[in-house]
Amino acid sequence: MPIDEKNFTKYINRHEIDASIQALANRLNTDYEGKPVVLVGVLKGAVVFMADLVRHLKLDVEVEFVRLSSYGKARTSSGTVTIIKDIQADIRGKHVLIIEEIIDSGRTLKFLYDRLQASSPASVEIVTLLDKASKRVVEVPVKYVGRTIDDQFLVGYGLDLEEYSRNLPDIYYLKYPN
Ligand code: IMP
Ligand code: MG
Repeated sequence: MPIDEKNFTKYINRHEIDASIQALANRLNTDYEGKPVVLVGVLKGAVVFMADLVRHLKLDVEVEFVRLSSYGKARTSSGTVTIIKDIQADIRGKHVLIIEEIIDSGRTLKFLYDRLQASSPASVEIVTLLDKASKRVVEVPVKYVGRTIDDQFLVGYGLDLEEYSRNLPDIYYLKYPN
């Protein structure tokens, strides 16, 4: 069921999102200057972030996606991660950037990070727009963070509640999360 927008409170507006993305892109453009990179977006949530970030990158980029499942429709991680859709590119010897919109427990990214490392890339780093750092259960090396946030359930800008609200241009938290 789509939720009533009066239960949302705006938390990060589109201009703040843009500023975070520009700052991330500046770092990436410097750090990867002259190096082709493979961006691996984590479906579905990272699609909106990936689309905006990629347009700020002045690098030779390949765009790939994975789809992982750990949550289903639950709001907290179940701890078990499976691959639903894998990348198509051969990443051996390439610089890989995992693109995620939010990290919570870290379970999803730890799984993906280890799996990509097993294919012998030149490097793998994680880029996330949002980091709920206080919620980390599994240690995962996150080099590029747009913004560290409190533990709140967020929707909009790719983030969903039971598949709805990904299309909102700003990020909201739920006033009544349960
Ligand atoms: P982790 O494995 O616990 O780090 O969970 C990461 C995934 O959970 C993210 O890629 C999101 O898809 C989802 N997620 C975590 N926090 C939120 C939230 O506040 N709103 C919507 N989805 C979230
Ligand atoms: Mg995600």
